[in-house]
Amino acid sequence: MATATNNIVILGAGVSGLTTAYLLSKDAANSITVIAKHMPGDYDIEYTSPWAGANFLPYVSQGVGKSGSEHERWERDTWPTLQELTEKHPEAGIHFQESIVYNRTKDQGSATGEWFAELVQKDPWYKNVVPDYQDIPASQLAPGISNASKFTSVCINTAIYLPWLVSQCLKHGVIFKRAVLKHVAAAAIHHHNGQPADVVVNCTGLSSRKLGGVLDDKLYPARGQIVVVRNDPGKMVSISGTDDGEDEVVYVMTRAAGGGTIIGGSYQKDQWDPLPDLNLATRIMKRAVKLCPELVGEGQGIEGLDVIRHGVGLRPIREGGPRIEGEMVEGVAVVHNYGHGGFGYQASFGCSRDAVRLVQEALRRKDRAKL
Ligand SMILES: Cc1cc2nc3c(=O)[nH]c(=O)nc-3n(C[C@H](O)[C@H](O)[C@H](O)COP(=O)(O)OP(=O)(O)OC[C@H]3O[C@@H](n4cnc5c(N)ncnc54)[C@H](O)[C@@H]3O)c2cc1C
Ligand SMILES: *[C@@H]1O[C@H](CO)[C@@H](O)[C@H](O)[C@H]1NC(C)=O
Ligand SMILES: *[C@@H]1O[C@H](CO)[C@@H](O)[C@H](O)[C@H]1NC(C)=O
Ligand SMILES: *[C@@H]1O[C@H](CO)[C@@H](O)[C@H](O)[C@H]1NC(C)=O
Repeated sequence: MATATNNIVILGAGVSGLTTAYLLSKDAANSITVIAKHMPGDYDIEYTSPWAGANFLPYVSQGVGKSGSEHERWERDTWPTLQELTEKHPEAGIHFQESIVYNRTKDQGSATGEWFAELVQKDPWYKNVVPDYQDIPASQLAPGISNASKFTSVCINTAIYLPWLVSQCLKHGVIFKRAVLKHVAAAAIHHHNGQPADVVVNCTGLSSRKLGGVLDDKLYPARGQIVVVRNDPGKMVSISGTDDGEDEVVYVMTRAAGGGTIIGGSYQKDQWDPLPDLNLATRIMKRAVKLCPELVGEGQGIEGLDVIRHGVGLRPIREGGPRIEGEMVEGVAVVHNYGHGGFGYQASFGCSRDAVRLVQEALRRKDRAKL
């Protein structure tokens, strides 16, 4: 008996679309086309994934992410895969890095404090998920810092990892096409074999706000400005807040394989400006050097930073959390997987596995309808 061919179109080639395509492509019965306006290699304000750090630091976003939540399940489910890729697939461009997280009691209730609440929690859910978790004794903390912890996390070089996902997909026969679609239902006629798609997976990130058939007004950006530098402090650091306003943050992480160090940042809700604000960039660099003096030589300030580039990405935040669900849109079975805020990488495998289950359900419904 010949295996049935499932025609699947995936819209979007960010980390969400590529991870979903990668997982689905492992089943030889799936024939997959990925359609996107932007592909790995592009840098554009409408394409969030290349701008991410990216590391694994469990956050709360819009009230989701608390321990026991679905969000926790997605991240819990993603860590082992990131760990395995780091250990067994150096060509994926991910490495382990020590991560230090600082807590300031005074950030309680602020925008960034809320965002960091789960991360800086006493006995957080991820304590036994990531390796080497430990509290740093109060006696070792600088003035102004209330608590700190450290653990082993990963830092993903997105310039290597996104193309790696594409390569894995290509190896499994996935076809990539550039197109800009106005409506999710239009994706159904874009399968490379000319037949209508059985399922369309919608991984359009922030653009889902404008996509015909979706028009999700629960989506909004949290603007993240970063500076990429050549300096390497040899560790990652982040803190629950700054004294420069509620929507400014500090974090430092070094990407694998010569990817440079990302210093951030900001979490500016409803801000769409694609251009780096150079005053903000100066504050970002000053804060980073203060929190992580190992970035520069002894006694140096921001003049000790060797800047590669400034950048801005828009985190696709969705009120109530990401949308991972199936629906029929004008007769087309659609599975949505968008709205991953600031956690698109660290929740990527958990979210995409859920999307894959929904695709499988839609295919089973389709097969039953054919009987
Ligand atoms: C500064 C910054 C730092 C971050 N750090 C981290 C981190 O450390 N860890 C972490 O886990 N996450 C981090 N994130 C969040 C992460 O980057 C996002 O959650 C993730 O990239 C979202 O990916 P996505 O695939 O959903 O969307 P995107 O990457 O935006 O991809 C959307 C895709 O859909 C395509 N598309 C959209 N509309 C259409 C259309 N109509 N027709 C055709 N194609 C279309 C686009 O071209 C693109 O290919 C960070 C984000 C920023 C901005
Ligand atoms: C960090 O501070 C918050 C208050 O801002 C507090 O709720 C939390 O318990 C603190 N974390 C630790 C480890 O004490
Ligand atoms: C965190 O710091 C606060 C303020 O100093 C303190 O009350 C609290 O006990 C600390 N938490 C832990 C887990 O030590
Ligand atoms: C994908 O979801 C977004 C957000 O809801 C929507 O705007 C868009 O039309 C959807 N695309 C498809 C192909 O369903």
